[in-house]
Amino acid sequence: MNHPAMQGLNLNTPAYVRNAKLVAWVADMVALCKPDSVYWCDGSDAEYQRLCQQLVDAGTFKKLNETKRPNSFLACSDPTDVARVEDRTYICSAKKEDAGPTNNWMAPAEMRATLAPLFDGCMQGRTMYVVPFSMGPLGSPIAHIGIELSDSPYVAVNMKIMTRMGKAVFEVLGVEGEFVPCVHTVGAPLAAGEKDVKWPCNKTKYIVHYPETREIWSFGSGYGGNALLGKKCFALRIASNMGRDEGWLAEHMLILGVTNPKGQKYHVAAAFPSACGKTNFSMLVPPAGFDGWKVTTIGDDIAWIKPQADGSLRAINPEAGYFGVAPGTNFHTNPNCMASLDKNVIFTNVGLTDDGDVWWEGMEKDGPVPSHLIDWQGKDWTPQIAKETGAKAAHPNARFTVAAVNNPALDDAWDDPKGVVIDAFIFGGRRSTTVPLVTEARNWVEGVYMAATMGSETTAAATGQAGVVRRDPFAMLPFTGYNMSDYFQHWLTMGEKLAASGARLPKIYTTNWFRKGEDGKFVWPGYGENMRVLKWMIDRLEGSAKGSENVFGVSPSYEELNWTGLDFSAEQFKTVTSIDKAAWVKELELHTELFQQLAHHLPKELTDTKAAIEQRLAA
Ligand code: OXD
Ligand code: MN
Repeated sequence: MNHPAMQGLNLNTPAYVRNAKLVAWVADMVALCKPDSVYWCDGSDAEYQRLCQQLVDAGTFKKLNETKRPNSFLACSDPTDVARVEDRTYICSAKKEDAGPTNNWMAPAEMRATLAPLFDGCMQGRTMYVVPFSMGPLGSPIAHIGIELSDSPYVAVNMKIMTRMGKAVFEVLGVEGEFVPCVHTVGAPLAAGEKDVKWPCNKTKYIVHYPETREIWSFGSGYGGNALLGKKCFALRIASNMGRDEGWLAEHMLILGVTNPKGQKYHVAAAFPSACGKTNFSMLVPPAGFDGWKVTTIGDDIAWIKPQADGSLRAINPEAGYFGVAPGTNFHTNPNCMASLDKNVIFTNVGLTDDGDVWWEGMEKDGPVPSHLIDWQGKDWTPQIAKETGAKAAHPNARFTVAAVNNPALDDAWDDPKGVVIDAFIFGGRRSTTVPLVTEARNWVEGVYMAATMGSETTAAATGQAGVVRRDPFAMLPFTGYNMSDYFQHWLTMGEKLAASGARLPKIYTTNWFRKGEDGKFVWPGYGENMRVLKWMIDRLEGSAKGSENVFGVSPSYEELNWTGLDFSAEQFKTVTSIDKAAWVKELELHTELFQQLAHHLPKELTDTKAAIEQRLAA
């Protein structure tokens, strides 16, 4: 408060904020960023409504038709600020080798020197929002607190939906509690009298993590994971470091509950790369032939998993909402999600219909295509224009932000501070060939190998080049905040410790819903039909499915899956489960390439596992 830059600027610290370290840090950041004012978010509904109205008045939000989409808004971003920027994302550990070969790295001192002039005065003409949030149920032994300072009211209202945000966080934080400091700016200071744009951002972008000091600094983007710092930055990149140091796991996984007709319930955590249907799987509706089965959502994107004294692994979803990809979502692919989106939603970069509702590619499956709308870039869009120019109503990475409590399939325990006990892990990639529908690892090390070598084909939307296999270990390639090989070792060590405690370890599966036939079409119907595979996993947990061993693990026979209500022949089943030895020899060459890249600290167990698979293939 005594800092010269603070003269005349009131920090407005509420009386209930008693954490001296926090107040000192806010004062320092105010001195650096030089906002016009400071506003401490209390997380109330009244505050949310007020900020949304402010965003409407500024032109950032458009209020949607109150009858069709009550209390919902549409934001359209700057066309250059539409997705996470992996090439601008840095892990600034003291030593380069601790960031590893899969992360961008810069020495902390060099990065601090780079960022200092960018952050100096970056919030001029704007308000700094102090956003207190808990990742995980407030006060849960698995949860952690963060404070985000942001000059974006869009961020503040999204954080209200995505996290447990507000005043109550300060009670948990108390006088001496720990928090992860997260500083975010759109990087667009306003000169006196300068008019703001609808979506301020900066061409220069930096998404920076200092793992040793557990800080996050984000400059230049207002979009998604770049700006909502609780999500990928904290809950994965920083938390993976905390997990390694403290003996737990921060994972890019959905968590679901599955209850069988006898009322027995299991919990599964599943990792899939971005845009491979995690939200869909977490809200799966069991198909015909599965009467009495129920799938419930605990989380759709991130899991924090901590070992317990009894050797079990308990998991929470650190988030409180879903920031999901809208295009492709419809009543066929994800009816529960569509039902979640009927009110209280923030949409970003979808199309705006003439009657004030939203529309995106994929919704043509649910009803007539609008004859006209305004696309995400504010241009006229008609089916004819789309046909002629390929223009999309929604950006392929358009999003909805919605509270978990909107989800009709929400699990009763989703907010339980104790978390749920994990019975199985699933790792799945997008592969048109080679990888079978489902395989169970015979043991923890084989499971870690499967997850470590997981690959996924890029989609044309993201890279312009479809079908290239990118290795995405544990679906964590852009999210592991330290050396990937050390991360593999952490998983192996966790397994050893759990086994030593005498606990039954969760089973590990790998899946691939995306095998294609000779006609280039997906063979497996996916979506709700994935329940058939999920049930086989439960049968394995209960010991009622025998499965058979292949070179990698255990797979189901055709007869072991429940086919009631689905016309899927043994021949088709073979197409999605067959193991082509020649393709696998090639696949293992790619594993070799990955292991060469990750050679520093690569656990020997993984190269041994690979050698064993090679031997079995050659036999
Ligand atoms: C996400 C992602 O937004 O994985 O969840 O990219
Ligand atoms: Mn994700």
